[in-house]
Amino acid sequence: MAGTRFFAVIVAAGVGERMNCAIPKQYLPILGKPVLAHTLEVFERCAEIEEVIPVINPFHENLFVTQIWERYRYRKMRRYVFGGERRQDSVYQGLLMLKEYQDDFVLVHDGVRPLLDQETLQRCLGALKEYEAICCAVPCIDTLKLTEDGKVIRETLDRRRIWRAQTPQGFRIGILWEALRLAEQDGFWGTDDASLVERLGKPVHIVIGSEDNLKITTPQDLVFAEEWLRWRRES
Ligand code: C5P
Repeated sequence: MAGTRFFAVIVAAGVGERMNCAIPKQYLPILGKPVLAHTLEVFERCAEIEEVIPVINPFHENLFVTQIWERYRYRKMRRYVFGGERRQDSVYQGLLMLKEYQDDFVLVHDGVRPLLDQETLQRCLGALKEYEAICCAVPCIDTLKLTEDGKVIRETLDRRRIWRAQTPQGFRIGILWEALRLAEQDGFWGTDDASLVERLGKPVHIVIGSEDNLKITTPQDLVFAEEWLRWRRES
């Protein structure tokens, strides 16, 4: 039945310059398993998700195939696609695979967020039964300062109004499709998908995310992720 299916597009085509390592961060191991495999597994394990589409960098194809595709053979991962220069291009390539499912739903998630938990994923799916566009986010706990030059504070922002966006972000596929097309037409490049849908004037509802849903960026993040997963396994 149309309008009830959930797909996942996992964007993992980035090159990541901050890790300072020859292996791209999405393929670095956490407890012996690549970061991206941990991420894909969260969606593989979720009963409501129909298909999981990884978007990879063509230069990483060999790594992906040997370290993940052939090694884990996830049931819901039936195809993979190549991403583009910017994250938004990669999302577009993933969404192209779902063009025929305009009335169904997609969750877009960063491949480098392997600590997503099933409870957060369920909150996203639950919200999509009510809303057409959702964004995982967490409240801001630090006090926020605005500067023009990175040196002198111009003002202090009201942190009660600020949320830190994470992924997953979920949409009715037709809406994200329209948002991507409009952004492309206007030459707008967003760092997440919700920002594109916001430009359409459609409401994007916040789903409470998790402080643990870290985007692996630095070598220290890998250490934290490993400890966190070990702790979760034991508890
Ligand atoms: O660069 P950023 O931190 O926004 O990356 C978030 C996610 O988007 C990562 O999982 C990265 O691999 C992915 N990405 C992508 N294609 C790009 C750039 C980033 O799939 N061109």
